[in-house]
Amino acid sequence: MSAAPEHGTQAFPGALCPIEIPLPTRRATIRLARSLAPGLRVGDLLVLSGPLGSGKTFFVRALCRALGVPESVPVTSPSFTLVRPYAEGRIPIVHADLYRIGASEEVDMLGLRALRAEALVLVEWGRPYAAQLGGEAISVELDTAEGRRRARLDGDDAGRARLVRLVRPSSFFLPA
Ligand SMILES: Nc1ncnc2c1ncn2[C@@H]1O[C@H](COP(=O)(O)OP(=O)(O)OP(=O)(O)O)[C@@H](O)[C@H]1O
Ligand SMILES: [Mg+2]
Repeated sequence: MSAAPEHGTQAFPGALCPIEIPLPTRRATIRLARSLAPGLRVGDLLVLSGPLGSGKTFFVRALCRALGVPESVPVTSPSFTLVRPYAEGRIPIVHADLYRIGASEEVDMLGLRALRAEALVLVEWGRPYAAQLGGEAISVELDTAEGRRRARLDGDDAGRARLVRLVRPSSFFLPA
């Protein structure tokens, strides 16, 4: 009889995915960001999806704060500038919002793929472009169906392998 795969190994990175996390309060969203932040590094790509107002920007802001971007630096949706860098945290961060992208060639023009060499890249409305942005993407889907907020964490194969390393289930139960 073979042993069950140990949590955190790469043997079956998809076995835990998607990971669903209820987000009944803003505090819960902040806690999720805080639990993911310590493991994030330059080169990581998080693609955020979910309907308008589902909390993509809120989550990005919480992640920026958890990575050390001070409250004095506003973290708002870069809907018009499309891309916004933050240099004030533990690692460089690039926040993009592709809601207004008309054609996939426009994504290439933003240079996000190359920016992964020097920053953690967080992309609202980015999931359709995950492969174009270099793949190994962690997907954060924010869902508000039936009035209940939750995050669904998943990824492509390599993204899932990254994800299971980032997620420490016990961390969701730490006091806020
Ligand atoms: N549990 C929660 N997690 C995150 N945001 C929440 C939560 N509960 C309420 N909110 C509120 O929901 C709103 C989410 O707005 P936000 O701009 O982050 O959404 P968005 O997904 O980025 O929208 P858009 O598609 O327009 O970019 C905020 O006003 C936030 O305060
Ligand atoms: Mg937004």
